[in-house]
Amino acid sequence: MSDPSNRPEILVIGGTGAQGIPVVEALGKSGRYTVRLFTRDPKSTRARTLAMLPNVKIHQGNVTSQEDLHAAFRGVYGAWVNTDGFTLGEKNELFYAIRAYEIALHEGVKHYVWANSDYALRKAGWNERYHWGHNDAKGRVGDFILAQGQQRIKSTLFTTGPYMEMLFDGMFKPEEREDGTIVWANPAGNGKIPLIALDDVGSYVLWIFDNVERSAGVDLEVTTDQVSFQDILEVFIRVTGKKAVHITLSMEEYMDKVEPYPNAPANFIGGKNRIDDESNMTWRQNFTAWWRYWSEGIGATRDFALLDEIFPGRIKSLETWMRKVDYQGKPKQVLKNLEDLKAQLADTGQEIHGPHNSG
Ligand SMILES: NC(=O)c1ccc[n+]([C@@H]2O[C@H](COP(=O)([O-])OP(=O)(O)OC[C@H]3O[C@@H](n4cnc5c(N)ncnc54)[C@H](OP(=O)(O)O)[C@@H]3O)[C@@H](O)[C@H]2O)c1
Repeated sequence: MSDPSNRPEILVIGGTGAQGIPVVEALGKSGRYTVRLFTRDPKSTRARTLAMLPNVKIHQGNVTSQEDLHAAFRGVYGAWVNTDGFTLGEKNELFYAIRAYEIALHEGVKHYVWANSDYALRKAGWNERYHWGHNDAKGRVGDFILAQGQQRIKSTLFTTGPYMEMLFDGMFKPEEREDGTIVWANPAGNGKIPLIALDDVGSYVLWIFDNVERSAGVDLEVTTDQVSFQDILEVFIRVTGKKAVHITLSMEEYMDKVEPYPNAPANFIGGKNRIDDESNMTWRQNFTAWWRYWSEGIGATRDFALLDEIFPGRIKSLETWMRKVDYQGKPKQVLKNLEDLKAQLADTGQEIHGPHNSG
């Protein structure tokens, strides 16, 4: 383990979130970096738990404050940045994510890692049927960052598809019938979806920081397995021996069933803090495009040979993941923003309906 005073410090934005937790853990436990964990609330359970890890220091701030961003980037060697499109909304995410990168340049950050999503609209040939806010905002920012080149700052895109853990919480969470049958009822097509197991995220991000000469300028699109809903069903039955069905709903039937409330905006999850204007899509518009893009297989572009080379110990398949986490089709809390909204609503005696969000 290196001398703590010489250890490069990495700012982690979004580190208390589902994707950020494994990043904080991997960087902190490596003993090669100190983590500056950016959070709005240092007293949250997640922040306090992470603060107990080796080499992790908490830094309070809000992504929607440019002053906070300056203070956060000042003095760090590197940064891993995951803004939360679900609470910010498309327009605000675009603005603050670009400002974060610009401010990091001003503050002299050496290696900037952007937690990216597929730029679905571009990858789908600019067909608006595949435009939705929380992916395209990130994808545009990713293109903008790589377009600035590698002279002044090294940059890497870390591109994830939907989390495998969304089988616990979010868009892929199934229902259980009284007889124990597990039911996925959704509008999925036959295409392969590149799911990523969050357990592997930390190792990839550690590799990115450890190997800047190789990772600079790269868009590392990660996945654990690319699977269709038919594959998910077959693997689930094989692993658990349970009865399970996939029911294909029309987009209208599905949306009528799961829309959080009529005309809910895409960033409704931001609760009382969300920003609302014409740029916001509705939840229906947002997730209609989301289902089309992923379940038609347009995002199934990952390079498995590269992923095996970078991380030979990666989880190799959905089946391995289901066995590892003992997946039984039961719900489990994964996303912080959903957890926070539920807590906010519990104070008013309300509940939320539907699966709400996913990557
Ligand atoms: N769900 C998926 O399958 C998936 C897949 C790929 C990409 N993504 C993307 O990941 C992002 C969400 O991250 P997540 O999945 O880790 O969600 P999450 O578990 O809900 O975590 C949200 C994170 O964002 C932070 N955050 C939210 N608003 C903030 C603000 N104004 N200032 C500072 N920090 C803020 C939260 O920190 P504090 O509350 O501690 O401040 C928390 O760390 C979204 O943009 C989504 O599109 C999701």
